[in-house]
Amino acid sequence: MRLRDELGLEQPGAVRLGFGCASLVGKGFDASDGERLLEVVLDAGVRYFDTARMYGEGRAEAVLGSLAARRRSDMVIVSKAGILPPSRSPVARGLRKAYALAHRTAPGSQTWLKPPAFCEPEFNVFSRKALTASVEASLQELRTDYLDILLLHDLDPADLTDDLLDTVQTLQREGKARHVGIATDPPQTRSLVQRKETPTELVQFASSVWNDNLSSIRALTDAPLAIHSAMGTRFRALAQRLKTMPDRASVWSQRLGMNVAEPAVLAELFLGHALASNPGGLVLFSSVNAQHVKRNIATAGKTISSETLTAFESLARDEH
Ligand SMILES: NC(=O)c1ccc[n+]([C@@H]2O[C@H](COP(=O)([O-])OP(=O)(O)OC[C@H]3O[C@@H](n4cnc5c(N)ncnc54)[C@H](OP(=O)(O)O)[C@@H]3O)[C@@H](O)[C@H]2O)c1
Repeated sequence: MRLRDELGLEQPGAVRLGFGCASLVGKGFDASDGERLLEVVLDAGVRYFDTARMYGEGRAEAVLGSLAARRRSDMVIVSKAGILPPSRSPVARGLRKAYALAHRTAPGSQTWLKPPAFCEPEFNVFSRKALTASVEASLQELRTDYLDILLLHDLDPADLTDDLLDTVQTLQREGKARHVGIATDPPQTRSLVQRKETPTELVQFASSVWNDNLSSIRALTDAPLAIHSAMGTRFRALAQRLKTMPDRASVWSQRLGMNVAEPAVLAELFLGHALASNPGGLVLFSSVNAQHVKRNIATAGKTISSETLTAFESLARDEH
């Protein structure tokens, strides 16, 4: 069955939001916080979860796995292979902390003071042995027999060898990955989607009101598209600016008829714009705040008028 049909992306009222698990563990947010948050996401109506072997330094999949152990049949699980997390041994963790401290104390030292390789993620891991082991590790952590979608993480056109294609086909034949696609940077994506051998059951990349990659990639492929970074880090800076600059916020609010000094309203605009730009596709979002999660999912069902979205685009681009 085509992935688009399986996900019901073209059904009226389809929930086209996916929850991103990159921030599920770390920065004071522990595994039990992550488990509680995932439950909120699923209960609020989002069943599509995007993770990767390397998220949370290799720990995010296990958090998602604790939900999958109980509610797998309600979930669509997407994971990625191609980047391996750094070692989680006590030595590696201690060294990482020491190097981070040194880098903070001596800014610029990143260029000459580099931690040993086992303390860093490993990129371009696409050999048959390593890719198969990565998928096996994902399945174990996620407590499932299959990935709904396997994405080749940060794939470069040069990595797409016959051996990689054969490995991917084997994983599909064995039922370990039902669908396969790519999740890489927009220039690589544009190049890869033009090669007929590239697995493109799903094509994932960054796109936002500030950085529109959708138009150019959609022109090259009919594959279902998933976009991330609709808000990203710049959203936080803009929300802060509009909160602290009432004159600026008032220009926005009057043109849009919405109170943009409230970050949740701004988030609604960013997500609404992303969903409208990617009809029949998915928009990933992330949050460590349960209220934000509920609000984002509730507002994703609303339609924002095209006049408001056009005005939003022009305001956001002026602000950039
Ligand atoms: N190579 C790849 O395929 C790739 C690369 C990057 C990301 N991704 C995927 O995409 C996922 C999403 O990442 P992203 O960068 O696209 O995240 P995003 O959703 O664009 O931005 C997340 C930021 O938005 C804030 N936010 C969300 N809802 C909010 C609300 N209602 N009000 C105020 N602030 C709100 C969050 O803060 P709070 O936490 O405070 O709510 C967080 O700081 C990742 O987890 C990952 O799964 C994939």
